[in-house]
Amino acid sequence: MGKNQSTEKNEQTNLENGDVLTNRQGHPVTNNQNLRTVGNRGPATLENYNFIEKISHFDRERVPERVVHARGAGAHGYFEAYGTAGDEPISKYTRAKLFQEKRKRTPVFVRFSSVIHGGHSPETLRDPRGFAVKFYTEDGNWDLVGNNLKIFFIRDAMKFPDMIHAFKPDPITNIQDSERFFDFCASSPETFHMVTFVYSPWGIPANYRQMQGSGVNTYKWVNSEGEAVLVKYHWEPKQGIKNLTQKEAEEIQAKNFNHATQDLYEAIERGDYPEWELFVQIMSDDEHPELDFDPLDDTKLWPEDQFPWIPVGKMVLDRNPEDYFTEVEQAAFGTGVLVDGLEFSDDKMLQGRTFSYSDTQRHRVGANYLQLPINAPKKKVSTNQSGGQMQYKVDRAPGQNPHINYEPSILGGLKEAKQEGKEYTPQIEGKLVRESIDRQSNTKQAGETYRRFEQWEKDELISNLVGDLSKCDKRIQEKMIALAEEADEEYGRRLREGLANAPMQDDAGQTPLGNKDGDKAVEDAVEKG
Ligand code: HEM
Repeated sequence: MGKNQSTEKNEQTNLENGDVLTNRQGHPVTNNQNLRTVGNRGPATLENYNFIEKISHFDRERVPERVVHARGAGAHGYFEAYGTAGDEPISKYTRAKLFQEKRKRTPVFVRFSSVIHGGHSPETLRDPRGFAVKFYTEDGNWDLVGNNLKIFFIRDAMKFPDMIHAFKPDPITNIQDSERFFDFCASSPETFHMVTFVYSPWGIPANYRQMQGSGVNTYKWVNSEGEAVLVKYHWEPKQGIKNLTQKEAEEIQAKNFNHATQDLYEAIERGDYPEWELFVQIMSDDEHPELDFDPLDDTKLWPEDQFPWIPVGKMVLDRNPEDYFTEVEQAAFGTGVLVDGLEFSDDKMLQGRTFSYSDTQRHRVGANYLQLPINAPKKKVSTNQSGGQMQYKVDRAPGQNPHINYEPSILGGLKEAKQEGKEYTPQIEGKLVRESIDRQSNTKQAGETYRRFEQWEKDELISNLVGDLSKCDKRIQEKMIALAEEADEEYGRRLREGLANAPMQDDAGQTPLGNKDGDKAVEDAVEKG
């Protein structure tokens, strides 16, 4: 590992007298090698406070890992604003303070991750990569919780738990099964664009430093007049983009399943600080009937020729965490964490996500997760919320009467803040329904993406899809071929030919439950999709 680690280990020879080992009550530990026992062969006694404290804390060293994105690496750094959005002052679009002044710096913490498997799974797996950034702004925290790819599998939060169940290991065998993955995807045609990316080399970034990032969902920016635009965020790495073939990934995985974490840690230790430039794409805040897709549909790219990438700042990562668990494992990002001048759109995925993140974090880290230094804003917090497991302070204003832990009050206590700038008050009207959006156009952009790929990327895509689809039920294969044919004639033809020539896998033709009478059910599901 990094040079720094061994230097630090060597430096720990000059401990101050006071820096001796203690237990968590502050009592000195005079013997850390032996249990207290009756005679040196035991038995042990139950009043072994130091031992019981040590072992029972060890028993609780883990919190539940993230239900998705469990494997990750993090780093600290800063964001530096350009003060402009292309030729315009940025204030035309947003009043968010962190963007306003040229060269204004805001501290950040970033966590990169893979999605499906557990906390120590190989970092070479085919999977989207998470790219979550916490900005500690003067107005409180802003989290931009994104991925490396610019689109997503589904467009409605209702489907997320099903999608993740299908992608994660089988509940009986505990083995990831491409038949379950493609069963869901074949029955949810909106996934096809993302499948096209994930099965290409873009599904295995070479490391975290050489990948893009994107907010994926559509957000809004609001200016001081209370006017909004739709916005998408993209991070572009100054290190360039590098993706792997399946074979390259396998070669790395055979020797090292932590290569991306190691690469990030070591680059920062040697002072080779990774940088990303932040771009936005902007659309006026309306439904854009002229487009063949809905601007709130996260399975779609916004065409760059119509909605150019506009640079608004850059980010530099220049400091490794001091402790993985304290900072990286306990970091909690959420799409609801916005500051003044940044807003949600009606993107249905974004709205579902916004409930999910802080909900899971209250369970995963605890009710007071926002008091942990990694999650707490750098700005003073003054709130009447208190109590709950692991509270270690009251977030009271200086001089606040501690008896007045409510609002409103004539006697004192916290007062409501003043609204800054004109409030953004969109008009919302319509029938309450459960319906999918109108402009679905599920395969068109997948075809465009396929045609933009270089030849080696197309070849990899076909060979990776054939490899995994050849293990699947014929009906699933047929549906995936039909989606590819709809996207692009060559894409469909190559996939059909590839599967026709692929060696039939033993289990092809079986559903995961071994029920071959499911034709009708699968057809119905596909129709519905
Ligand atoms: C992590 C839910 C879609 C990016 C998580 C976590 C949950 C979750 C529960 C674990 C959080 C934690 O334990 O701290 C959802 C739901 C989604 C959704 C319900 C759809 C409705 C997406 C999309 C993206 C994304 C579209 C990409 C833009 C991430 C990232 C993390 C994450 C990067 C890891 C954050 C970290 O490093 O701590 N998601 N997610 N998710 N999600 Fe999502």
